[in-house]
Amino acid sequence: MNKILDTASLESTVTPAGQTPYSAWMQTDVLHSLQTPVSEHPGEHAWIAHVQVSELYWMLIVKELQTAQRQLRANDLTLTYRTLLRVVAHQEVLDANWRSIDWMTPNDLMAILSKAAATYGQDTALQGWTYRHMVYLLGIKQAEHLQHFTPQPQRLAQLQQALAEPSLYDDLLAYFSRIGMEVPKATLERDFTALYVPSEAIEKIWRDIYAGPDINIQLQQIGETLADIAEGFSQWKYRHLMATRRTFGARPAYFGTEGLAWLAPTLDEIPFPELWSARTFIGNPPTGCPHMARHKN
Ligand code: HEM
Repeated sequence: MNKILDTASLESTVTPAGQTPYSAWMQTDVLHSLQTPVSEHPGEHAWIAHVQVSELYWMLIVKELQTAQRQLRANDLTLTYRTLLRVVAHQEVLDANWRSIDWMTPNDLMAILSKAAATYGQDTALQGWTYRHMVYLLGIKQAEHLQHFTPQPQRLAQLQQALAEPSLYDDLLAYFSRIGMEVPKATLERDFTALYVPSEAIEKIWRDIYAGPDINIQLQQIGETLADIAEGFSQWKYRHLMATRRTFGARPAYFGTEGLAWLAPTLDEIPFPELWSARTFIGNPPTGCPHMARHKN
């Protein structure tokens, strides 16, 4: 891969028998043995590759978010920012990945799904633990999704732990508190397994951070990167909703109810709520301006 190497340092290396250094490192034989079509449909490989690439990227984002949490806990905002920028980049790949299955019509999807159901039983992507772990780290703590993991005790335990631990947003709020911002004690000590309830106190912190374009630059950069991440998350959901509309119509899905009706309201689940609600007030004229009477203080 890299020709500019110090060859002296290679003397003690051993390439496993039957491998090249590249195949050993990238595990290409294992990787390309992991696509097992269940149908005769020529597009099933594209479907499997699309989903597996998404799986890889969700896990990548989980690892990046955990790294960002460690960096925040170490009060290193510069490194946190760099890590969050990588998350934004990975989300763009997830978004572009939809293009590779845009060709599907209901005929194509049904030909594949019917064989998958006949082979393995009825699946739903709600059984995907990487996506759920990512969603918990983004702060959307919906415990009801754990029901799908009973057959996978190790993954159930992993998700229960992720549910019970602080999300990235919780860690940011703890950081705000450490640097002297007024985060309510009840927010810092809340039950992390419960749904996050937005508050005016946290909204005010974001309003203060953005009180002028030239102040709190580093925190505003973090805020804008989180806004990018939240937008990337919603964008993925929108592409998924349209893919469902296009290939599935209004059929009943896993729960027996219309899949589109189940999915559409989840588009309102946007991470980092007060970062968004504060924007109603950011940029208002300074206090004292007569027009302010019409706005919230
Ligand atoms: C294009 C055809 C697809 C259809 C018709 C479809 C349909 C659905 C439906 C109806 C749900 C709601 C839960 C359920 O009833 O199962 C759902 C959820 C979900 N699907 Fe798909 N899906 C499609 C493709 C995909 C692909 C390719 C992926 C992964 C790359 C995916 C990942 C997910 C995830 C992560 C959820 C949970 C969403 C949430 O919790 O908000 N889906 N899908």
